[in-house]
Amino acid sequence: MEQICKITGMSMAQQKKWPLFHSLLTDKLVINRAEISTDKLSKEIMQFCSRQETTDEIQERKDAIISHLKKRFNRKFNGSKLTAFGSSESGLGLKNGDIDLCLEFKGEKPKKVLTKIARMLREDGMEDVTLIAHAKVPIVKFTDSRTKIPIDISINNSLAIYNTSLLKLYNDCDVRVRPFVLAIKNWALHRGICNAAYGTFSSYAWTLIALQFLQTSNPPVLPNIQQGDKRILREVEGTIYDLTMNENPADLIKSDNSDNIGDLIIDFFDQFSNNWPWDENVISIRSGKMISRKEKNWEEDKPKLIDALVDENKLRLGKHSLPVEDPFDHLHDLSRVLRTEGVMDIREEFLRAYRVLNEGGSWSEVVKTKFPELVNDSPKTDLFEDLREIPKQEVIDKLEILQDQLNEVESKIKVRKSERNNAIEMSKAIRKNAELKNEENKLGNSLKPRRDKIEKVKKERDSVNNNYIPVHWIEDEMMKVFYRLTEDVDQMSAPSLKKEKELFSWFFELQSMHQHSKKTRELHNQFIKLLDEQKDTLDELDLVKKSSNELFGNYENFDDLAHKLLLELNSIHNEKRTLRREIGRLEAWLRICDRKKRDRKKSNYRKQNNRNISKTRSSVNIEEVKSRASSGESISLSDLGALLNSGGFSSIQNVGKEKSERKKKKKMNNNFTASRGKRGRSKKNY
Ligand code: UTP
Ligand code: MG
Repeated sequence: MEQICKITGMSMAQQKKWPLFHSLLTDKLVINRAEISTDKLSKEIMQFCSRQETTDEIQERKDAIISHLKKRFNRKFNGSKLTAFGSSESGLGLKNGDIDLCLEFKGEKPKKVLTKIARMLREDGMEDVTLIAHAKVPIVKFTDSRTKIPIDISINNSLAIYNTSLLKLYNDCDVRVRPFVLAIKNWALHRGICNAAYGTFSSYAWTLIALQFLQTSNPPVLPNIQQGDKRILREVEGTIYDLTMNENPADLIKSDNSDNIGDLIIDFFDQFSNNWPWDENVISIRSGKMISRKEKNWEEDKPKLIDALVDENKLRLGKHSLPVEDPFDHLHDLSRVLRTEGVMDIREEFLRAYRVLNEGGSWSEVVKTKFPELVNDSPKTDLFEDLREIPKQEVIDKLEILQDQLNEVESKIKVRKSERNNAIEMSKAIRKNAELKNEENKLGNSLKPRRDKIEKVKKERDSVNNNYIPVHWIEDEMMKVFYRLTEDVDQMSAPSLKKEKELFSWFFELQSMHQHSKKTRELHNQFIKLLDEQKDTLDELDLVKKSSNELFGNYENFDDLAHKLLLELNSIHNEKRTLRREIGRLEAWLRICDRKKRDRKKSNYRKQNNRNISKTRSSVNIEEVKSRASSGESISLSDLGALLNSGGFSSIQNVGKEKSERKKKKKMNNNFTASRGKRGRSKKNY
């Protein structure tokens, strides 16, 4: 049976995990404040702090990243503005802190913008690109692939830009602010209690806690910068905030506090170990002091810490567990991210730090890393750091392996590309085939009704066609009879009545024959037209049958395949980019190695040569060389060296007069003088 503490209800495992806090709860904890010399502690913290200065290389890289992103975003989000904020701007950042960036852009919804940014960064080959869409402030996180600097991008997070300015003003107030805040942040980071995602305070919250301590120390180190009669109200993202910040905070109070960093640090841990402020209070730097929970209306909600810990059903801690008010957004309690175990860890770590200090432990003991995986490696600026100690041949071998991998990746890309093209072609062909099949059916279906119609028309035509007489013949005959019946006749030649009757009846018969014949002709034409149509349809059908093939299936399957292959291609392209970058880096390193070797060889050669020259010099008969030089005879390089070494040409006395005269003339013609160049002349010289 597990042993449960009767007082706290904590299990044995929990007592072991948070021993100091458990002892405190059961009144067994005793940490006596020792008489410690704080100078040593101060010195250690100041030394740590001086190591936190951003190097020029890191700063250059950070600036380059920001200016690259500015350009990219300007193109993609017209009219946007990218601003850096957070500790890299306030000066309260650790050396390996992140870069916080805010993109101000109103064109689209923030989450959509962040999704586009995430895609863009992945295309750029940035590492660990993660979109955190459901946080209070959604962000895209990623790592610069070269330096491993972590970068966060948020959208329209303007309030953070203002609170960064406030923190910067506090930093400028007193030289102790930076080392003090950095020491607290470093302690929290290395002891695993500075990670909002894991249920502990954010880095920003620790900064506010540290600043509040400096405002409330006795006497205070820091004033309240947000005080003043003239209030500045401004609308940010639809809400009005009081953004008053005193521009000259140094005038607010001249600090009488002369404590060194060591004193301040020990007092800080003393307060949080022996005088836990959060039972009754809220941390509020905009008030310059803690304010009561009651006044703020931030009473601690249930379940409270130990209840939440011991009751397995109460997993979430109640609201306002360790309230820290945001200086501008007064409704924002930074403790809302805290979880039960996180608060237990925070309490334990305060007690541990205080005990270590009182036992005479060093600052490095206080900040001893608890979870190495949560602490960032320092940013890398030496691109070849890992190669410097490796023998050259090993780099060459590595390069060969990478080249092979690159070839493999390139052929993978080729295969995927052709597979994708095939899938697209197949999808197109199936779509087209489906259209053709449709057409074929339509054409086929039209044949039968037309055939019926043809038969019908044919029948009809043939039935009236039995005694078919061409229409034109009937019309001619009708004309003739008509003339006979209507022409002017004299009495003598007038047809007999019988003949006239016959003509009339013949005319009527012709008329009826004409009707008949016209109908037959119409039916015949119709028959021919239908036959033509039928023939056209059959030709068309033939054509459609010829162009369609035996392709069946679902084109959507091929569309899906093409999409899947595209995603695969994107990731292989990324792999290719990474390999290329690494190959480029190794090649550059090998070039550097070769250059160094060449330079070494050259300098050895030069040394050797100098030695040879001096040797030759000594073997040259200088008087003989001088005589040869003065008589205009040729001299060797080693002769020249020896001559220059023994006073040069001026030392030659017997230079022929003629020659010297010629030289003089030439010199005068060229107008060369020993005066200073134009740039060196001042008016005074004229
Ligand atoms: P960070 O947590 O990165 O803090 O928040 P930081 O001060 O930059 O510290 P390090 O050095 O990186 O660890 C970045 C900024 O986001 C804003 C603050 O302006 C903070 O400086 N922020 C953060 C808020 O406004 N509210 C929050 O709850 C958290
Ligand atoms: Mg930051």
